[in-house]
Amino acid sequence: MTVTIVGSQLGDEGKGALVDRYGGEADVVVRYQGGDNAGHTVVEDGEEYALSLVPSGAIRGKVGVLGNGCVVNPRTLFSELDDLRERGLEPDVRVARRAHVVFPYHRRLDGIEEEAKAESDQEIGTTGRGIGPTYEDKAARRGIRVADLLDPEVLREKLEYTVERTTAVIENVYELDAGEECDVDALHEEYADYGRRFREEGMTVACGPFLAERRAAGDNVVFEGAQGTCIDIDHGNYPYVTSSNPTAGGATVGTGLGPTVVGDGEVVGVVKAYLSRVGSGPMPTELDSDGAGHTTGDEPGQATGNETDQPTGDDTDAAIAAEIRDRGGEFGTVTGRPRRIGWLDLPILRHAARVNGFTGIAVNHLDVLAGLDKLAVGHAYELDGERVETLPATTETWARCEPILKEFDPWPDVDWDAVAAEGYDALPESARVYLAYLESELDTEVYTVGVGPDREQTIERVDPWNRV
Ligand code: GDP
Ligand code: IMO
Ligand code: MG
Repeated sequence: MTVTIVGSQLGDEGKGALVDRYGGEADVVVRYQGGDNAGHTVVEDGEEYALSLVPSGAIRGKVGVLGNGCVVNPRTLFSELDDLRERGLEPDVRVARRAHVVFPYHRRLDGIEEEAKAESDQEIGTTGRGIGPTYEDKAARRGIRVADLLDPEVLREKLEYTVERTTAVIENVYELDAGEECDVDALHEEYADYGRRFREEGMTVACGPFLAERRAAGDNVVFEGAQGTCIDIDHGNYPYVTSSNPTAGGATVGTGLGPTVVGDGEVVGVVKAYLSRVGSGPMPTELDSDGAGHTTGDEPGQATGNETDQPTGDDTDAAIAAEIRDRGGEFGTVTGRPRRIGWLDLPILRHAARVNGFTGIAVNHLDVLAGLDKLAVGHAYELDGERVETLPATTETWARCEPILKEFDPWPDVDWDAVAAEGYDALPESARVYLAYLESELDTEVYTVGVGPDREQTIERVDPWNRV
């Protein structure tokens, strides 16, 4: 069977940890979109692994596949594989021949365009990994695929066309020096070498047929989403998105298996118990933005919790954000930039539940919220005097939404290892109220609860591999 793991929010929800958790029963773990913009953390007995391309199943020795929907930077991939080998692992990673390759000029273009946009405050805040420009070349039918690296003549022919065009863009549109990123000879030498390595190590596959065969042989497959629903190019808050489809539909297009395969399996949404965001774009429940007050609730009688009429967005909120950021280690893995912090946002989650068709959710980081003076969620939005329960289609409209907050009783800090060992019923009662609220609002079950980063710090309530 298959389990698809999708970020429900804005990325960094803890997808890597959940893939690792479910990895015990998996045979193959497949990334279906994105590239080395991802940073997935797996912690095994206190040993931390941060992976940006190698699928998270590698830590448990499972076969990893980078599907055709991925964009692959071979420099990153081989350096990550070498690092893992140095740490004593034996990663087995296959790469789809249809996947597109990220070249140095894609990273350059990413940086140039972000700088150009910054002049009018329109930058996305990308990871700078060249992801957007690579997908742009793919859509424009001038991209270079993994299969092309295997044939030096084809590679040269394609590089000559694409690099000439890229050089013209950098020199004539941006009036910059094209530089070493556009040196065809050097690129050809380096990337034909990667092609040789792919071939020698038997790493490339026809992704769809490979996975179909593994499934026919009875293998369990995990589809590992990167990024998150709100930064999906179709269903996120465009233009502050990544250039691929992290949502569950991406798992079919990005692997070559049909929608019925994904739909026959489980689709688990990973939910961080609060909200974090790297990069630009609206975030109505943000805690330490500009000190703007939040809108009051106007409807009594919600299932749990109390909507508040106390405006927030003050020093207290900034202090709460700082506390969550510190305790949750909410700093970018690559750049170290502090992540923006906000309360859990239900309109985002309702949107995610529908777009992805979750069969269950995995709620992480409950431990991070423990012991706060105050706890709230954005239950709905107020937009032009109307109450809104899900995401508007445009970013401009979303930016005008004010959160309607609902307060919850905070839970105390407890011995989370003991709770993880004992199970769901050992969670503080107020934490269970919070989780029950999510189940009821999203009409789905909480499968797992994360109370710490380590594999053992996850409470499993429903095992998706063995549902009755
Ligand atoms: P991903 O991109 O969705 O895989 O998430 P990241 O790995 O980028 O970020 C999640 C961070 O939170 C990592 O440092 C994880 O080790 C950590 N983490 C995951 N689950 C939990 C949890 O339940 N509690 C705490 N405190 N940390 C967690
Ligand atoms: P994981 O898989 C959080 C964000 C960037 C930026 C936008 C576009 O670890 O959850 P890109 O470089 O993709 O063109 O950047 O998307 N972003 C992420 N945010 N987690 C990620 O991955 C992200 N990957 C991209 O910050 O706002
Ligand atoms: Mg991450």
